[in-house]
Amino acid sequence: KQICELAYQGASTAVSVAEKLLNEAIEKHGAEASVKYPDTAYKLPMVTALSGEEVTTLGDIVPVLQRIKENNLRPEPELGNALLSGEATLYAGEIIEALRYVGGVKPDEPPYTGFLPDPILRKFGVPLVDGTIPGVAVVTGKAKDAKAGAALIKDLQSKGILVMLVNDIIEQCIEENIKVGVDYLTFPLGKFTQIIHAVNFAARAGLAFGGVPKGAREQMLDYQKRRVPAFVIVLGDLDPVTIAIGAGALFMGFPIVTDQALPPELQIPGLLEAQPDYDKIVKLSLELRGIKLKIVDIPVPITVGPAFEGETIRKKEAWVEFGGGRAPGFELVRMCDAGQVEDGKIEVVGPEIDEMPEGSVFPLGIIVDIYGRKMQDDFEGVLERRIHYFINYGEGLWHVAQRDLCWLRISKGAQAAGFKIRHFGELLIAKFKSDYPAIVDRVQVTLITDSKAIEEKIAAARDKYQARDARLKGLTDESVDTFYSCTLCQSFAPNHVCIVSPERVGLCGAVSWLDAKASNEITPTGPNQPIAKGECLDEQKGMWQNLNDFLHTSSNRTLEEVNLYTLMDKPMTSCGCFEAIMAILPQTNGVMITTREHSGDTPCGMTFSSLAGTCGGGVQTPGFMGIGRRYIVSAKFIPADGGLGRIVWMPKELKDYLKDELIERAVALGLGADFVNKIADETVGITEETILPFLEEKQHPALTMPALM
Ligand code: SF4
Ligand code: NI
Ligand code: NI
Repeated sequence: KQICELAYQGASTAVSVAEKLLNEAIEKHGAEASVKYPDTAYKLPMVTALSGEEVTTLGDIVPVLQRIKENNLRPEPELGNALLSGEATLYAGEIIEALRYVGGVKPDEPPYTGFLPDPILRKFGVPLVDGTIPGVAVVTGKAKDAKAGAALIKDLQSKGILVMLVNDIIEQCIEENIKVGVDYLTFPLGKFTQIIHAVNFAARAGLAFGGVPKGAREQMLDYQKRRVPAFVIVLGDLDPVTIAIGAGALFMGFPIVTDQALPPELQIPGLLEAQPDYDKIVKLSLELRGIKLKIVDIPVPITVGPAFEGETIRKKEAWVEFGGGRAPGFELVRMCDAGQVEDGKIEVVGPEIDEMPEGSVFPLGIIVDIYGRKMQDDFEGVLERRIHYFINYGEGLWHVAQRDLCWLRISKGAQAAGFKIRHFGELLIAKFKSDYPAIVDRVQVTLITDSKAIEEKIAAARDKYQARDARLKGLTDESVDTFYSCTLCQSFAPNHVCIVSPERVGLCGAVSWLDAKASNEITPTGPNQPIAKGECLDEQKGMWQNLNDFLHTSSNRTLEEVNLYTLMDKPMTSCGCFEAIMAILPQTNGVMITTREHSGDTPCGMTFSSLAGTCGGGVQTPGFMGIGRRYIVSAKFIPADGGLGRIVWMPKELKDYLKDELIERAVALGLGADFVNKIADETVGITEETILPFLEEKQHPALTMPALM
């Protein structure tokens, strides 16, 4: 039909543009010139994912493009051919975009992001799999007017959808003061073919989390259809190239909604539908993709959603600021008896925001009293950490740190919108009740802004923190008979299983043993299942029969055995959202660790991204392992491989981050308080050769340990 012809026409145009640019680039830089996107382990991800050719030079692209030209461009008007045209357009788009990076240039200026590197993909891995981000919207084109476009994007943001913007809608959003940027879950990719960065992001999710092998085209498409909740909204005129790109989206299994009044014969029910009414576009898109939202109505005058989690509010943008060392501040969740909690009650002790002048600093104590029939003492800490996220979800609210170190700001914008101190209470009550219905029956919140009243309460809070910490210290792998599984990431990495023990946090860093326990209480059939340890098969390496059995079943029988305390022999698998990665450094007889935050090279010859590319996707890779940051300072940190003393290199930032605990652990292990100074970092060197003399000079213990391999 007509749509097929247009797709063919558009694809042909895209392919010939790609060909022309490729020839020009070869003429200018030579066929040997390297071509790659920055900070990714997946080369040209669309090629890697769909056909698997190794493209590293301009010359490598020639046969790929030739094959696409011969196989994919078929003029006969059939839906199958339109999808092939779509696929051809994806290849063409990827090639055109990749060419822009030849010669190591960074072609995009802010606000445009261009290619989204692997660290961003991994950063959003956990929220995508746990449903905090319920879907991904790719919005391209130009809205009928800026206001309508902005309202559409705002609607997506408030629903917690990750948004990727292409073309004029970006300027329209900026014009209407819609917050865009990685921090707002709203990525302004750029223009025209830059839409491919949304698609290659999705393709990399399949490669990184799904364990889909490169070139496994059918498996990749199946993964996209079933696991990636993406859809496309096309605004404005539909020219042939836009239609060809649309066919590419359909090829990936992403439905499309357009604001143009398409005649019924041009629509494909369920896949390509028209909705000229802007108020209905989002709803239709979500329906087509089967995305169901948990709607929570929160009676506050600001927008609340994960899009605002990363928002920073600088000092000069703040109406009022609390805690952060400039005034006392604390937050505390208390488990209470039924009679002590009046559900929904909010009390403000001290001045309201109306009595706080612009630019002022006040104390703030937040006490959340919770009664629940299934609530446990142990969950207080788990719930208390949620305060940070819940408050940050508010547009114009900013929260860092926790406990008596917490630091908050309310922006001038939020104040002008009518945000009051009591609204912190509304926000927390609504979120606790909607996110934890199984353990939270009644909630009341006390907000203290009075400097006298806070003194007495903060002392009581500190006693509570201390008691909690003492209990946590006593919580060891030996002291419990049950560990927990986490299979949350299976929505992306179908064979991956984390085993979470008191002394080994999940590799994303977000799921501790207590978190898993609480989550199991909330959703007994959910991703965190208790596993009675049962018979221990290897004390040193940490292998238990029951854990093996569990692993075998829940990894879809791809794994037989797992050791919790070593990275050399049947280590835990990695899904893709690890905070840090360890790798062995054979010459030094030690291990190195790098983090998602550290983008630089490391002594194993790989960056975090390329390391992540070698050990994600739920397979065991001895010698490499994804871990949570806090596992490093655990008493169960690879004891079978020599423990903490094996670490020979880590980024400086990680050293600083864990400093006190590293020292404490080193002393406990008899390595001495100055062990931390024996660990090399990027200022010492980023190759094994350059750090070795340093380790020798410092007499690093790894050098004299038994051989690692
Ligand atoms: Fe994913 Fe493991 Fe974290 Fe669970 S604990 S969310 S499976 S990384
Ligand atoms: Ni994961
Ligand atoms: Ni994960």
